Amino acid sequence: MRTQVAIIGAGPAGLTLGRLLERAGIDAVVIEQRSPEYVLGRIRAGVLEQSAVDVLRAIGVGARMDTEGLPHDGVELSFDGDMLRIDFEELVGRKVMVYGQTEVTRDLMDARAETGAVSIYEAENVAAHDFDGASPRVTYTKNGQSFEIACDFIAGCDGFHGVTRASVPKGAIHNFERIYPLGWLGVLVDQPPVAPELIYAHHARGFALCSMRSETRSRYYVQVSASEDVANWSDDRFWDELRARLNPEIAENLKTGPSIEKSIAPLRSFVAEPLRFGSLFLAGDAAHIVPPTGAKGLNMAIHDVAVLAEALTEHYGEKSKAGIDAYSARVLTNTWRAERFSWWMTQLLHTFPDSGDFGRRIQRADFDYLRASRIARQSLAENYTGFKP
Ligand code: APR
Ligand code: PHB
Repeated sequence: MRTQVAIIGAGPAGLTLGRLLERAGIDAVVIEQRSPEYVLGRIRAGVLEQSAVDVLRAIGVGARMDTEGLPHDGVELSFDGDMLRIDFEELVGRKVMVYGQTEVTRDLMDARAETGAVSIYEAENVAAHDFDGASPRVTYTKNGQSFEIACDFIAGCDGFHGVTRASVPKGAIHNFERIYPLGWLGVLVDQPPVAPELIYAHHARGFALCSMRSETRSRYYVQVSASEDVANWSDDRFWDELRARLNPEIAENLKTGPSIEKSIAPLRSFVAEPLRFGSLFLAGDAAHIVPPTGAKGLNMAIHDVAVLAEALTEHYGEKSKAGIDAYSARVLTNTWRAERFSWWMTQLLHTFPDSGDFGRRIQRADFDYLRASRIARQSLAENYTGFKP
């Protein structure tokens, strides 16, 4: 088989890229190691910046998001129970859209199925070859048979544990990483959200987040240690711990029920540099990871592939290499901006085993500064809703 762009990975990065390229008349094939059901079974974050919303609308997959998504004008912070609202609309004139990543993925999959775009699921032993030379290829096996896709470019959209970044020679790539000694224990429940907006809570017992998927489905998290086992957390234990970390008046309104999903995600900051190796590009979680505190991961992935699609469109349309040459630097500028913000939100809101009394006082001072200063709140709002210079 031959295609122009071989896309490895059918998460939001790979599927959005596929759709962008399809719209630009560029031929692409998506190769994914899991089944469609498995991909749709993963519960991930759910906050879209305006620029991500714009991309999804522009590629014709925004209809369900526009009817079922929840536009939010702000979020609440809670620090040892003291509440502070960050009013995005008033501070920076922007909103965010609460719409689950799983739903974004489903919309993109449906759109692909409708146009008959080629997606290969359950591909095994996927490998990228010869991206340094003139004839890049992707090979894989399926049902015991070997396949090869010849292409012009390979897009590595295969997430943090994918094969593409691992296939770059060690000396050609530099990885920057911070691993936090924490995880987020998340619960999905069919109950109305405790409050109309997201609540990010700092508490001496640890961070907690109240989020939602719809008016009848909520998503809650509590900080746990990185080595925690989800089997130790009954639903009752989870609800008790969540209530203990919230403002008591809010906690009183919490509607609990049997969890429909419960899992622990580690917290990590990671950036690979550069993001282009000959005709191979890294995008999304394959290129960078942020702790979920700033709700940036999905937005970064969509940003990356929008830049990549523009570069490839320029390459095929105007025969210009400028976009391709600029890809890594453009994406890294946006990446480090989001990395800084996600790191800062994480520092502010979690409890760390080694920060001591001094660290706790600094966190309180950071929160008090936000409370006292419109400029500080504006900075948070600008970054949360997606700072684009
Ligand atoms: N071959 C083919 N596909 C692979 C391989 C492989 N060797 N390894 C991983 N994949 C697939 C995974 O199964 C997954 O479906 O690549 C896809 C990567 O998707 P995501 O992990 O969702 O990453 P991305 O599309 O970059 O989206 C980033 O996901 O983790 C969140 O916070 C993150 O919201 C952000 C978003
Ligand atoms: C979520 O709803 O899962 C969610 C929301 C905001 C975050 C992280 C996760 O910062």
